[in-house]
Amino acid sequence: MKLYIKELIKQSIEQLWPEQASEVLGVSEFDVSVPDMDRGDFSSNVAMVLFKKFNVAPASNPAEFAQMLVGQITKLDHGDTFAEVSAVGGFINFIFSDKFLNRTLNQVLDQKNIYGQSEIGENKKILLEYFQPNVAKPLHLGHLRTAIIGDALFRVLKFAGFDVASDTHLGDWGTQFGLLLLAYKKWGDAEIIAKDPIAELNKLYIQINAEIESNPELREQGKQEFVKLEQGDEENRELWKKFRDWSWQEYNVIYDDLGVRRSDHDWPESFYIDKMPDVIKNLEAKGLLRESQGAQIVDLEEYNLGIAIVVKSDGGTTYLLRDLATYIYRQAQGYEQQLYVVDNRQAHTLAQTFKILELLGVITSPEQAIHIAFGYLSLPEGAMSTRKGTVISANDLIAKAQGQALEIIEQKNPDLQNKPEVAKQVMQAAVKYFDLSHNYKSDIVFEWDKALTFDGNTGPYLQYTHARINGILRKVDKPVSAEMIEDVLIEPSAKNVLRKLTQFSGIIEQVAQNYSPNLLASYLFELSQQFNSFYEAVPIAKETNQAKQDFYLQIIAATAQVLSNGLELLGIKAPEQM
Ligand code: ARG
Repeated sequence: MKLYIKELIKQSIEQLWPEQASEVLGVSEFDVSVPDMDRGDFSSNVAMVLFKKFNVAPASNPAEFAQMLVGQITKLDHGDTFAEVSAVGGFINFIFSDKFLNRTLNQVLDQKNIYGQSEIGENKKILLEYFQPNVAKPLHLGHLRTAIIGDALFRVLKFAGFDVASDTHLGDWGTQFGLLLLAYKKWGDAEIIAKDPIAELNKLYIQINAEIESNPELREQGKQEFVKLEQGDEENRELWKKFRDWSWQEYNVIYDDLGVRRSDHDWPESFYIDKMPDVIKNLEAKGLLRESQGAQIVDLEEYNLGIAIVVKSDGGTTYLLRDLATYIYRQAQGYEQQLYVVDNRQAHTLAQTFKILELLGVITSPEQAIHIAFGYLSLPEGAMSTRKGTVISANDLIAKAQGQALEIIEQKNPDLQNKPEVAKQVMQAAVKYFDLSHNYKSDIVFEWDKALTFDGNTGPYLQYTHARINGILRKVDKPVSAEMIEDVLIEPSAKNVLRKLTQFSGIIEQVAQNYSPNLLASYLFELSQQFNSFYEAVPIAKETNQAKQDFYLQIIAATAQVLSNGLELLGIKAPEQM
C-alpha cells in the first residue's frame, strides 16, 4: 500500500509540474506512514519535504502545495481506494473507502498466512547477524535480546521482500582459549563437563584466573597454549573443537527453548584466521596502518573515534581485525548490506570497524553497514541468582518463565490438552513480547508479572485474544461464507477493525525500514483492542440476520489471521486454544 500511495503522489507531481518533477523527486525521499487512526489510515509528509526542492515554487506555501496534490491524487485514484484524501497542516491524510475495506477483508481470507507481504525489499541481498554467543561462556541476558530482536527482524525483513540470510559470528577465538586449554589440561574432566558444559568450562576458566593471582607464571603458560593452538597443534585443536561442540549442545537447546530459527551461516570468528593477513596487507597498501608502542594501529582521532588496535604489541590479532575480515568476506558473498544486532556497549568498536572499512573503500555509503544497537536488559531481582550464587543467565530466565507459564495455564484451563507445549508457547510469548514491545534502543527491566499476565499489553494477551476468536468461530460452528454486505460497515467498531487490518502491510514496511519490531507489537495490541470493542458492541453469536452474522464472522476470522501472522513475525506462536 505504501508503494501504491507513493506512486500516486509521484504521478501527481509529474502531471502537475512536468518540468521540475524528475529533479524534485530525485533529490529526496518523502515518507508514507501509518498515523494515529484519528488522522487517517495512511499519511504522508511529502508536501513539507518536497516544497523547498522546487526551483520555481509550486505554490505559495506547503499547505497550498499539499492541497493541489490532493486534487490530483483524488483524480488518479478514481475515488476507488480512498473515501477521503485531505490536506491537514502540510500532511496529506488518506482514509480508505468501504469498497476497499471489503476488498481487504477478502484478501486476508484468501491470502491467509501470506497476507501483509510486501515487496519493498526488492529482493536485495542482505545479511543479518544476531545471536553471537561466546564458546565456553554462559549466555547472559544480552544474548537473549540479540536472539529475540534478530529473529523477529529476520522474519519481518523476509516478509517485506528482502533476500535475507543470517549469520551467528560465534565468539570462538582469542587468547582466553589459551587459559582455558591450560585449565582443562590441569583439572578438566570430560565426563563432568559433558553434563553441564558451559557452566563447567566457565568454572575452569574462573579457577585458572584465580590461580593466576598467586601464580602469575600461569598467564605466560596460557599464552603459550594459545600460540600452540594458533600454530595448529593437534592436541590443542582437538580440545578447542570439543569446547565448541559442547557449547553448541547448549546453544541448540536455547534455539529450541526460545523458538528461534537456526542461523543460515555459521562463520565463527575462527573462520577468519586465514583471512586476516590480507586485511593487514590492504591496510598497509592504503597507508592506514601505523606502529605505536609495538602495536599496529589505525589512527581515527580525526573522526573522533580514537585509536583502533589491529594487532596487539605481542603480535596477537584483535576482535576488530576479525570484524574487518568478516565484513569483507561477507560482502564478497554478495551481501549488499550487513546488519549487526549487537548491544550498544559495542557501538564504539563497530563504529571504528565501519570507519576503517570506509577508509579502505569497502563501504561507500553508510547504509551498507548498520549497527542495530540494543539496550541493556536487567532483572528486578538483580544480577545474581541467590540460590546458585551465580550470575543470572539466559537459561535461568527462560526456565523460570516457563515454570510460571505452566502454573498460570494449570489455573486458567486445567483441562487443556498439551499443557506443557502451550506453556512453552506462552513463555516464549511473554519473554519475546516484553522485549520486542519496547524500543530496542532502550534499557529495560524484565517485569515478571507484567510479561506473563493475560491482560494488558503482553504476548500472552495477544495469544489469548487469538484463541478467543477461534473459540467463537468454533462455537458458532458454521462455515464462513464469502458473501459480504456493505451496510454493516455503518457499525463503527466493525469498520475500525477493518481499517486496522488494512494497515498491516504498511506496518511491516515500517518495521523493515526502521528495524523497530515495537511498531508491530503496538499494532497487534491495538488490533486486539479494536476487536474487543467490536465484540463488546456487537453480540455476534446472537445476531439473527444471517448475512450480517456471516460478515461479522469474517471480520473476526480475518482478525485472528492477522494476529497470527503478526505474532509469527515476532517469533511467537498463536495456539488455537489456551
Ligand atoms: N560475541 C560477541 C559478544 O557476545 C558479540 C559479537 C558481535 N558481532 C560482531 N561482528 N562484532 O559480546
